[in-house]
Amino acid sequence: MKKKPCRNQIRLTIASNAGGSGKTTMATHLAYAVGAKGYKVTLIELDQNGSLCIFARLTPASMEQSLAGVLKKTFKGDYPLVPLWSEYLDTVTAIQGGAFLEESIGEIYNYNRRHYTLKDRLSDFPLNSDLIIFDTPASLEPMGLIALAASTHVLVPIKPEYKDTGAFAGFLDWFYSKVDDLRLKPEPEILGFVPTRVDLYDVGAHRDILGLDKKGKQRTDIDPAKTLPFLIQQMGIQCFPYIRESNYHIKASGAGLPLHLYRPGYDANEDFNPIVNRLIKLMTEES
Ligand SMILES: Nc1ncnc2c1ncn2[C@@H]1O[C@H](COP(=O)(O)OP(=O)(O)OP(=O)(O)O)[C@@H](O)[C@H]1O
Ligand SMILES: [Mg+2]
Repeated sequence: MKKKPCRNQIRLTIASNAGGSGKTTMATHLAYAVGAKGYKVTLIELDQNGSLCIFARLTPASMEQSLAGVLKKTFKGDYPLVPLWSEYLDTVTAIQGGAFLEESIGEIYNYNRRHYTLKDRLSDFPLNSDLIIFDTPASLEPMGLIALAASTHVLVPIKPEYKDTGAFAGFLDWFYSKVDDLRLKPEPEILGFVPTRVDLYDVGAHRDILGLDKKGKQRTDIDPAKTLPFLIQQMGIQCFPYIRESNYHIKASGAGLPLHLYRPGYDANEDFNPIVNRLIKLMTEES
């Protein structure tokens, strides 16, 4: 397959102020799908929970072999990159997070440039990747902030449940105030929100919040102006098509594989395509 050359490195933070919204699922699936198109991708895990070990069948990394080592003042540029799904492709690598990040958080607070630590590492020692994905924990600080400072774009997975949709406004408040506080230039852009874990068939609230019927068609009994995608788009932010809930996602993560490899040809694999295509466009267009 002939791919367009990458002109711009995209550094994408995947963040949300809700746990279990599918951030790591999004991070691993985008990493795989963009890597499968021939682009070099590095996934950086900023989470102490180390769940990448499950999603990509890795063993927990030592301090030096994890992001904790990269965040140390003594770091000299030898990134501890581990290949992901290397039986299937050679374009995707990761830097693992895990328990040692607890120590890093304490140390970073004593650094003069605290939240710019990762940004500084990536500018002092550039990673030769077309796309860098930052997978963050549910609590936005400090790791979400450290990722934000190093990012060009932010993607927000959101579960369409009443408590999580309220968090949408909270996330935007956080984002705009931090971009301002940290004086990020150029400002990272919100690539979009994406409803995740959507079960239109069994969950009435998902249908109501998204304004869709069981088959995914727009409903006529709901004012479109009251639906979540409308509210997001009204703020000038893209709302990507939803990622469906599927038991195969759970099975695939248990097998340490993206759904694309666990169940090739399955419709749900295509749920990620609009985001993958948008990322590739950003990576390849003239800036
Ligand atoms: N579309 C989906 N369908 C079914 N299960 C899913 C889907 N997306 C994620 N899950 C499952 O939900 C759980 C949480 O997903 P994931 O770990 O990606 O969320 P997270 O936002 O990274 O969570 P945390 O905030 O704990 O880091 C996992 O068991 C995952 O396999
Ligand atoms: Mg996670």
